[in-house]
Amino acid sequence: MTDPLLSPETAVRDIAAKLPGAAGIFRDADISFCCGGGLSLREAAAQAGLELAALTGRLQALIDRAAEDAPQDTQGLIGHIMERYHATHREELNFLVQLANRVEMVHGDHDEAPLGLTEALIALRDDLDAHMSKEESVLFPAILSGAGALLAEPLRVMNEEHTGTTDLLRRIEHVTHGLALPVGACGSWTALYTGLRKLCDDVVAHIHLEETILFPRALAA
Ligand SMILES: [Fe+2]
Ligand SMILES: [Fe+2]
Repeated sequence: MTDPLLSPETAVRDIAAKLPGAAGIFRDADISFCCGGGLSLREAAAQAGLELAALTGRLQALIDRAAEDAPQDTQGLIGHIMERYHATHREELNFLVQLANRVEMVHGDHDEAPLGLTEALIALRDDLDAHMSKEESVLFPAILSGAGALLAEPLRVMNEEHTGTTDLLRRIEHVTHGLALPVGACGSWTALYTGLRKLCDDVVAHIHLEETILFPRALAA
């Protein structure tokens, strides 16, 4: 069955923000999900010369795979989220903030320079760090203690914070012109965009795992 997120009328911008791996599929097909991201899936497929059903099928396969990869037990799932995502985001963001700063300083007068990227990455690093710390010290222990429906309000707040994080990913996509490198980009600029692509994909996967698997499971406990 096709997920409701993949309705032909959903904006590609929303699919890229919520579905792990969708950004990569859109980039390969030259479908912009930043400034042109108001396009619906149906319009984007037509513009890229793709069959809507084929594009939807590839996206649905991503949803099916994301659910299969999640550890079945809650403790294992939380451990996986902390190790694979929380620790990795912290490490990568520290490195990427420095790299972005260097690229902005050296190439600031280039037409395609990612102006404002360092600021957006610092905001993402600080927001994510505060959010993940709350999950680690309060939310995850409460989930493991079986707090169940008592978690409805804290989980609503967490989902709201996820929306703020997604907005920052969109800002990064915007200031980097869709993470497209200019011709002749230097090694630092290239490494920066490669690292950002991975980070953005990881953040979408992390949020998806929490919102579609961990949080519903915690509420039902
Ligand atoms: Fe998290
Ligand atoms: Fe979270």
